[in-house]
Amino acid sequence: MIEPHGGLLINRVISEYKVDHTNKQIPLDLVALSDLELIANGAYSPLSGFMNKENYQSVVDNMRLESGLPWSIPITLPVDCESVNSIDIGDTVNLAYNNTIYGVMTVTDIFEPDKEAEAENVYQTTDQNHPGVRKLMERPNTYIGGPITLIKNPPKKEFQDFCLTPFQTRETFKQLGWETIVGFQTRNPVHRAHEYIQKVALETVDGLLLHPLVGETKAGDISSDLRMECYMVLLENYYPMNRVVLSVFPAAMRYAGPREAIFHAIVRKNYGCTHFIVGRDHAGVGDYYGTYDAQKIFNNFDEEEIGIQVLCFENSFYCKKCECMGTAKTCPHDSEHHVSLSGTKVRAMLKDGIMPPKQFSRPEVAEKLIKGMSKTLAETGRS
Ligand code: ADX
Repeated sequence: MIEPHGGLLINRVISEYKVDHTNKQIPLDLVALSDLELIANGAYSPLSGFMNKENYQSVVDNMRLESGLPWSIPITLPVDCESVNSIDIGDTVNLAYNNTIYGVMTVTDIFEPDKEAEAENVYQTTDQNHPGVRKLMERPNTYIGGPITLIKNPPKKEFQDFCLTPFQTRETFKQLGWETIVGFQTRNPVHRAHEYIQKVALETVDGLLLHPLVGETKAGDISSDLRMECYMVLLENYYPMNRVVLSVFPAAMRYAGPREAIFHAIVRKNYGCTHFIVGRDHAGVGDYYGTYDAQKIFNNFDEEEIGIQVLCFENSFYCKKCECMGTAKTCPHDSEHHVSLSGTKVRAMLKDGIMPPKQFSRPEVAEKLIKGMSKTLAETGRS
C-alpha cells in the first residue's frame, strides 16, 4: 500500500471526547467544517491541525510545508474579531457549526494573513470575480492555528454509505487485492470525456476510485446528490462494478486550478491511490488558468516527493470520423468532426429539457440531469 504523505496517516477522531462547555466557542463556516473533518480523518496527512503562521507562509510562498514537504493550498481557520479578542494562545476552543460542537482545537497561533498575497500566489489573481478569491476575501481577516480533534462527524446528505475515510478506502483496496488504484476528482456532472479518461487509465491499473468532491461548491454548479445519481446510473450501465469504488470527497472546492491539482493528487494518495488523473483545466474556472497549467505545475516537484503518479490527459472528445472518443494525440481529424460542447451550452440544453448528443453525454445520465434540474427549478424558482 502506498505511503501516506509524510509517512503517517493522521487520525484525530475521538468520538467519546468529553467537551468542556466552558471553553470559548469558535463558529466554523462550511469550508472550515469540512477541513476539520478531513484533517482529522487523515485525508490531509501530515496536517494535524489548522495551519500555524510558519506553515501557512511557507505554503503560500513556496508550495511547501515548513518541513519541505510539498503542500499547495493553505488550510486555515479564519475567525471573526469578537472571537479573536476573547482567546489567547494556549486556549482550548470548541469548534462549532450552527451551534453544534464538532471539534476542539488548542490555539498555538493567532495571525493576520496578507490575503492579497495569498490570492495572488494561490489563485494567480486578486480578481474577486474568481469564486475562490471571493470566498477568501469574504472570510474573516484573522487566522488561528493549532492541532485539532474531531469529536463528531459532520452530517452528510443522502450519501452516507459512500463516505469512506482514507483508512476505509485503504482497507477496501486491500480486501479487493488492488495494488494500483487511479483516483478521479470531479465536481461536474459526468460526461463521455470523463468516462473516456477514467477507462483509459483503468486499462493499466487494478481499480478506479471515483471520488467526486461533495463539499461546498460555487453557485451554479450542479448539486452533489444529483451528480452522485448520475454516477450510479453510469456505473450500473457502463462500468465493470468489481473494478470501481465510488466514494465521496467532502472537501470544499477552491477553484485554484494548478495549485488545487497538486492538493487533489496528494490527498488522493492519502486515500490510498497510486495514480491520479489530471485532464484539461483541472479545478479551473473561467479563463484564469491555461488549459494544461494544472499538469505543468507538477514539474516544480520531484516525482518521489509528490509520491502519487499523475496521469495527464489532453482535451478529450468524440470524433464522428473515428466513431470513438479520443484526443489530438490519437485522432487525426479536424475539430469540425469533433463533438465538443461548452458546459454553459449543455446546461442550457438540459434546463430546456433537450438531450445533449449521446456522444457527449450518456442518455441515462442526461435523463437524470434533466429531471434533477427541473426539480430544482420547481423547488427554488432558479437553476
Ligand atoms: S474539476 O474542477 O473537478 O477538475 P471536472 O469535474 O469537470 O472539474 O473534471 C474532472 C477531471 O476531468 C479533471 O481532471 C479535468 O481536468 C478532467 N476533464 C474534464 N473534462 C475533460 C475533457 N473534455 N478532456 C480531458 N479531461 C477532462
